[in-house]
Amino acid sequence: MTHHHIKRIAICTGGGDAPGLNAVIRSVVIAAANRGWECYGIRDGFNGILFPERYVEGGVFRLTRSQVRDIGHLGGTMLGSTNKGNPLHFPTRMPDGSVGEIDRSNEILEYFARKELDALVSVGGDGSLTIANALHHKGLRVVGVPKTIDNDLDKTMTTFGFDTAVAFATECLDRLHSTAESHQRVMVVEVMGRYAGWIALHAGIAGNAHAILMPEIAYDMDKLVAHINRRDADGQVYSVVVVAEGASQRDGHLDVLEPAEVGHAERLGGVGERVARVLQERTGKDTRVVVLGHLLRGGSPTAFDRLASMRFGAAAVRALDEGLSGVMVALAFPNVNYIALEEVAGRMKAVPLDSDTLQTARDLGICVGD
Ligand code: F6P
Repeated sequence: MTHHHIKRIAICTGGGDAPGLNAVIRSVVIAAANRGWECYGIRDGFNGILFPERYVEGGVFRLTRSQVRDIGHLGGTMLGSTNKGNPLHFPTRMPDGSVGEIDRSNEILEYFARKELDALVSVGGDGSLTIANALHHKGLRVVGVPKTIDNDLDKTMTTFGFDTAVAFATECLDRLHSTAESHQRVMVVEVMGRYAGWIALHAGIAGNAHAILMPEIAYDMDKLVAHINRRDADGQVYSVVVVAEGASQRDGHLDVLEPAEVGHAERLGGVGERVARVLQERTGKDTRVVVLGHLLRGGSPTAFDRLASMRFGAAAVRALDEGLSGVMVALAFPNVNYIALEEVAGRMKAVPLDSDTLQTARDLGICVGD
């Protein structure tokens, strides 16, 4: 039975895409339809509402069962996404010519009221969930779904997208072992993850890396060089080194491709290249670098991510049906539960230094840069 008079809901996907977004959309649309609710998709984060003129076929459109048929296994998001359109801090050209920020969130609330949309399912990472929290405080009924390949969201055991990223990075490491071994080289592999080392640590251990550098442990280049040299002296004349894009050196140096600007965050990258250059110079070993980058964001979600996505989508609809708002669905093994967005917004989950996974790396003799 439908409570709280919900008839119509909307869904949007924000931030970087991640495998599993389409499975969430499918799950939300079907669970809503089975309650007799209509579901609408907003294109490109909130751009479908903020820039209706950009969309010939409509910035917001009805999502029916037939539109979400057979999309659960596809990467990307059928709604499109953006990490530039934060409606709370919208980049705008100011009268003096500079670029400033304005708050456009009222336009979203007005749109929901005008179109008689009763609630929003917002699928995204920290940025999108912070926006969702603000909209909730302004009176919109909102439920969040935790997405990111980085796994850096607090209060959920995992986000969807992470398992797929780790699985692919692991396969890449397996493949790179052959060249490392055949050519007695050092292969440096840079992985995404922003300011958290989850992808690097999990894929590094699963993919039998010999060293893993991650943001949580400022690395000491001398220790890494010594580790590679020691392996060489022991007759293990090749090494595979995983470097998280957000790993920083002991002196605080962080490799940034583009600084933060109004409307978008800092872009990380380049640490793999730099570490490889120093390793080649200091160990004398032939060294190559591979940047996995956006390969980690694409492809078909693993069964784990698909299931998590479907569970999250269905749970988001149940939460709305139960009259909840301002919550995020979270994985609290073996079940999903609801966490106040307040407790998630603006927080980041780094790898705890006492985690058994990190301890496993140490126990296996993997150099973690300290
Ligand atoms: O948050 C996901 C992520 O892929 C990070 O791992 C990475 O730092 C960032 O997004 C890259 O963003 P963009 O696609 O804008 O370059």
